[in-house]
Amino acid sequence: MFRGLSKYKLVYNHIWNTYGQSRTVQVSFVLQIIARICRLVILPVAISIIIANLSKRNFSSAQNAVFLYACFSFVLGALTPLIKYIGMLGENKACREITGNYFSRLISADLDYFHSNLAGYLTTATRQYVDSCMQFTRALRDRYLNTILSIVFPLCVILYLDIPIGLVAFALSATQAVYLLWASHTITPYRTRSREIYKRNSGRMADIVSNILAVKSTAKEEIRAEQVRQGSADEGQLFYERYTMQTKLIALREAITVAFFLVLLWLTVHRMSGGHISITAAVLVVTYTTTILTGIYQLSDDLDEHDDLVDKIIPAFEILNRKNIVTDPAKPKVLKKVRGQVAFKDISFSYDKNKGATPVLTGFSLSIPAGQKVGIVGLSGAGKSTLAKLLLRFNDVDAGQILIDGTDIRDLKQTDVRKHIAYIPQEPLLFHASIRDNVILSRPNATNKEIREALSSAHALKFVDQLPEGLESIVGERGVKLSGGQKQRIAIARAVLQHSPIMVLDEATSALDSESEQIIKDSFTEVLKGKTAIVIAHRLSTLSEMDRIIVIEKGVCVEDGPHAKLLRQNGLYARLWRHQLRHDEDLSSLD
Ligand SMILES: Nc1ncnc2c1ncn2[C@@H]1O[C@H](COP(=O)(O)OP(=O)(O)OP(=O)(O)O)[C@@H](O)[C@H]1O
Ligand SMILES: [Mg+2]
Repeated sequence: MFRGLSKYKLVYNHIWNTYGQSRTVQVSFVLQIIARICRLVILPVAISIIIANLSKRNFSSAQNAVFLYACFSFVLGALTPLIKYIGMLGENKACREITGNYFSRLISADLDYFHSNLAGYLTTATRQYVDSCMQFTRALRDRYLNTILSIVFPLCVILYLDIPIGLVAFALSATQAVYLLWASHTITPYRTRSREIYKRNSGRMADIVSNILAVKSTAKEEIRAEQVRQGSADEGQLFYERYTMQTKLIALREAITVAFFLVLLWLTVHRMSGGHISITAAVLVVTYTTTILTGIYQLSDDLDEHDDLVDKIIPAFEILNRKNIVTDPAKPKVLKKVRGQVAFKDISFSYDKNKGATPVLTGFSLSIPAGQKVGIVGLSGAGKSTLAKLLLRFNDVDAGQILIDGTDIRDLKQTDVRKHIAYIPQEPLLFHASIRDNVILSRPNATNKEIREALSSAHALKFVDQLPEGLESIVGERGVKLSGGQKQRIAIARAVLQHSPIMVLDEATSALDSESEQIIKDSFTEVLKGKTAIVIAHRLSTLSEMDRIIVIEKGVCVEDGPHAKLLRQNGLYARLWRHQLRHDEDLSSLD
């Protein structure tokens, strides 16, 4: 997505704009730099003073130097945890903010984005981004800066002490740095592949776990386990290849390092024997050379980790910089009191237009006066649920208009459109939470009385009261601990509690037995009272009391009228009705 240096720029800008803005993080960085420079000065200077005094047999000065060195080391040692503590105060706050901001951006993405990405991948990517930003900030302060200082500062001192040795040291360090950058670049393809395999495997595992019922009911646990095993083997194979390559690169690095040390050592001895530098300077040069070499060793690991973290943060920009397809207008209109008039005016729509997909709706029109109850019928795949999703503005129409009380829904904020519509999707969606929490999703401050009334009108109160923990019963992930009909009734109660003027029920009674279906159908009078209702159903008996029924076929409205009229017309509706009647009679003859 982002190539070359632009990805580093992006990540550094992001870290600066998030963690970098915290005062305490800034203070911890400054303290760390000061502490590191002090360490870099004190140890070699102390050693050179001690050796110089020993060579002059000046033992008491040598002892004083040892004592001073011990005191400074103690102070610097105590400073390290303090620096981390100060940094942590700001890091925690920044971490909370980036997690909140990122997640809010993620869940504001178009619904289609979620349909095109594995849930496991999205959650893993979120955690990776949040954790990596924190790790990156800490590593930058505690290690990367230290490493750079450990190389640059001693080089400057050596150059100050003796220009020829300094120039050679600079040249050797530059060679080593170029080699390490090249080595890190060589490892990049392994890292990229490793992330792709990781992403695929975590997405696959989450997919298997969330579809465990399908896996178990088809008795294919072993096949799925084998897929994961294979994925893990791919990771292992890649790790082996990366490790082999890294071993070769490390061997070469070792050779360069030894050569580096020997050249500088020889040059120092040569310069000292020529009388160009003193013994103190020579000791300093040798001590700093070891510091540089240790820094270069560390640089190799740091570069690897640095690029790894950058690559883990980068995918987050897909969400952070993502432009939604469905957007709010710059100056949204506000509907004060919605009566509930709905109109689809000559709308056309297709998913995946760019891939030339067949349109789901073509020139579809339907006008629903406020308070009217409309049933929608059509063969599977005719576009009924799509119609509901377009009304909720999960997608925008390609042509035509959808109006609520005469206002184009594209002129309203998406949240405002959805606020006016209580929607029960084809698949009731419940959180892994209590029944209470699931019902109040649409009205978080609902009272106990309101919750019970909503459950009662959805004919759910009786079964909820029979549960050992009543309203507080946890329904399990996606409501697995409830029956299909119970889930649907909870979803209906949630919609009732929303008190919206428009209700859209997509197959709200499909999971109910005929008795419960009759109860729900009866409750429609109460649930839908005074509201505009769009009821999508395959069970046509649910719709017989609707003011009007629409039949959709091949993306257009082919029949429109009350139940009796459509039966007289003897079209698709009458055919479907007779078919269901025969089916119900067959079933009752079995009783
Ligand atoms: N997110 C999507 N991306 C691409 N195509 C989709 C998507 N959702 C639905 N479709 C396609 O659009 C068409 C209409 O689907 P829709 O869900 O509206 O049908 P439906 O009338 O509700 O069917 P059913 O009665 O089976 O629920 C189908 O061909 C379906 O494959
Ligand atoms: Mg549907």
